[in-house]
Amino acid sequence: MKKLCIIAFSVLASAVAISASDTMPVYLDPSKSIDERVEDALARLNTQEKIDIIHAQSKFCSKGVARLGIPELWTTDGPHGIRPEVLWDEWEQAGWTNDSCVAFPALTCLAATWDPELSLLYGKSLGEEARFRGKDVVLGPGVNIYRTPLNGRNFEYMGEDPYLASRMVVPYVKGLQSLGVAACVKHFALNNNELNRHTTNVIVDDRALYEIYLPAFKAAVQQGDAWSIMAGYNLYDSQHLCHNARILNDILKKEWNYKGAVVSDWGGAHDTMEAITNGLDLEFGSWTNGLYAGASNAYDNYYLALPYLDLIKQGKVGTDELDDKARRVLRLIMLTAMDNCKGNGSMCSKEHYDAARRIGHDGIVLLRNENYLLPIAKPSARILVVGENAIKMMTVGGGSSSLKVQREVSPLDGIRSAASSLGMSVDYARGYVGDITGEYNGVVTGQDLTDSRSAAELIAEAKTKAAQADYVIFVGGLNKSAGQDCEDSDRASLSLPYDQDNVIMALAEANSNLIVVNVSGNAVAMPWVKKAPAILQAWFLGSEAGNSIADVIFGHVNPSGKLPFSFPVKLTDNAAHHLNAYPGTKRADSEIVDLEYKEGILVGYRWHDTKKIKPLFAFGHGLSYTDFEFGKLSADNSVMTADGTITFTIPVTNTGKMAGAEVVQLYISDPKCSVMRPAKELKAFDKVWLEPGETKNVTLSIDRDALSYFDADKHEWVAEPGDFIASVGSASDNIKSTLKFKLK
Ligand code: BGC
Repeated sequence: MKKLCIIAFSVLASAVAISASDTMPVYLDPSKSIDERVEDALARLNTQEKIDIIHAQSKFCSKGVARLGIPELWTTDGPHGIRPEVLWDEWEQAGWTNDSCVAFPALTCLAATWDPELSLLYGKSLGEEARFRGKDVVLGPGVNIYRTPLNGRNFEYMGEDPYLASRMVVPYVKGLQSLGVAACVKHFALNNNELNRHTTNVIVDDRALYEIYLPAFKAAVQQGDAWSIMAGYNLYDSQHLCHNARILNDILKKEWNYKGAVVSDWGGAHDTMEAITNGLDLEFGSWTNGLYAGASNAYDNYYLALPYLDLIKQGKVGTDELDDKARRVLRLIMLTAMDNCKGNGSMCSKEHYDAARRIGHDGIVLLRNENYLLPIAKPSARILVVGENAIKMMTVGGGSSSLKVQREVSPLDGIRSAASSLGMSVDYARGYVGDITGEYNGVVTGQDLTDSRSAAELIAEAKTKAAQADYVIFVGGLNKSAGQDCEDSDRASLSLPYDQDNVIMALAEANSNLIVVNVSGNAVAMPWVKKAPAILQAWFLGSEAGNSIADVIFGHVNPSGKLPFSFPVKLTDNAAHHLNAYPGTKRADSEIVDLEYKEGILVGYRWHDTKKIKPLFAFGHGLSYTDFEFGKLSADNSVMTADGTITFTIPVTNTGKMAGAEVVQLYISDPKCSVMRPAKELKAFDKVWLEPGETKNVTLSIDRDALSYFDADKHEWVAEPGDFIASVGSASDNIKSTLKFKLK
């Protein structure tokens, strides 16, 4: 597209017998490289103009240089859809009537598809919506690792495994940026809980930092070439991450050679001198009436605004850092706002709804399905749907990812319309009253969810109706209110809120054909797990939620999602909680909360497997309506040389009656090593589609990187020669075949 555009430009230029370079300043000339254009623009800017472009001028946009025709830069949340327009300096709505969007499923759901192609589709679809709304930067995707199920923001991230998150984030970034819209990968780094998010100082060993918490960011900026990255709120090395010398300067910009722009999280900058020297390039959200109370339209007072200019004028700091920041921001503007070849995009198209629905149904995880209770196929079945999450809109709330949607199909509506086309009937009972509010920054759902009946009355009604139904579908879980799946707060416990456990137990007594649909971005405790023969993990699925759920329930789609994180039986089975390493300890002399990641690299299934603590549902787990049989694992070589690869092959057969997809997962173990290694680690996967009776040979390749650990003393990746084990299976706790091989 870009090439075509440049060719068209040159043809036009030669047609009027002028050469572009004769008449056009280099920074505007699309035939020149971005680097040339950036350097040319930089040379034309005075100090004031450089200062102007490195901080915000409103809630979501920063200045350009009008004199030179360099446009403003418009950012938007992110990451599940394009946020509605807010006022210039307020979080409240601007009142536009043409800013409703398609909400795509939350990133946990995308990760649960284990399908990089769907991630590309996600990024492209979102990019088109962003383009249509004139946005240059989408604030997302988020790839902070799932460390504790209490983190209120896990739903915006891609799970507990650095390899899975890396594979899934790269296509999202590429898809989005193919539309001329920058990704702003967030929140870099170590922002793994919301409680005390501005004051938590993370203490983590280098091995865990490099093996667990950094890889997805590294993949996003190196393989995905993300044009910007958002620094986190919290602290590391007792220094805020928005101006953190080690993370931003040493690792991101030096080790990884990052050329993009570091954007502060909104209100995450705290100090001019540190912001100047420690890698922050573009400051947003400080001091205005948003995150921190303060004067309105105080943008000139930003750390990187007049205070910075004053230091330069007084000769207290030089301008090298300023040039570096301005260069990075100019590059971001050139790649986005000044990309004259980008299309106009589109909003709320059929294609976008189709993409949302597909990502949704492919990400739903069938956790349990005793005696093939699902899919529902019984002619004229009478179905009872119970639960607040069957009717509550979930696209409003949860913090900055909250959206204003053109439409949202509720689970009840999705189930109703699919059932009626199959000649089945659907009744509804509320079951419990959770949180009836539905507002975020002035966007209202307009739903009236009030119900004044007592918990006992609601359960009694649900039970009576359940006894008369052929199937009961309970749709519950968490919602987007504070203390649940929501920014700026963590959950108080692993349990389902609003006494939902009681409702589920009562329903199980009344009807043995009970299907539980858990809507959440987090693991929840399931004390009733044995009483619910079918359980679906349904995530926050966005605009097409109800349709995606119905697709799976009625078997229009064979579920193929796999968990991107472990479900512990109880909270203390999770490493951070087992080791009492959350939420940290407040320092006596300051507001800082020190939080040591005592579990080191043993996060998620690495912990469960190594410590032999059985999870409720394991990482990688997810059932299908068909059965897959794995054959014997083989390899093209039994020895890997230092710079070589090994390709493993395993035949997988669909032995059931329905076409479907299986995610073939390769884990590596190093049984004898001079340092502790996790029991096994995911290093490759592939999602394969198989017709009934069909067999495919699935091949998975790895190189030395897959065998390496990070040696903190040497500060390098090390793979120790010797024996390794490759384990291939359908889940981290369901290994079908293993093979030994050697590294020379
Ligand atoms: C969030 C970011 C978000 C920003 C702008 C912050 O509070 O942490 O993720 O992009 O606000 O809304």
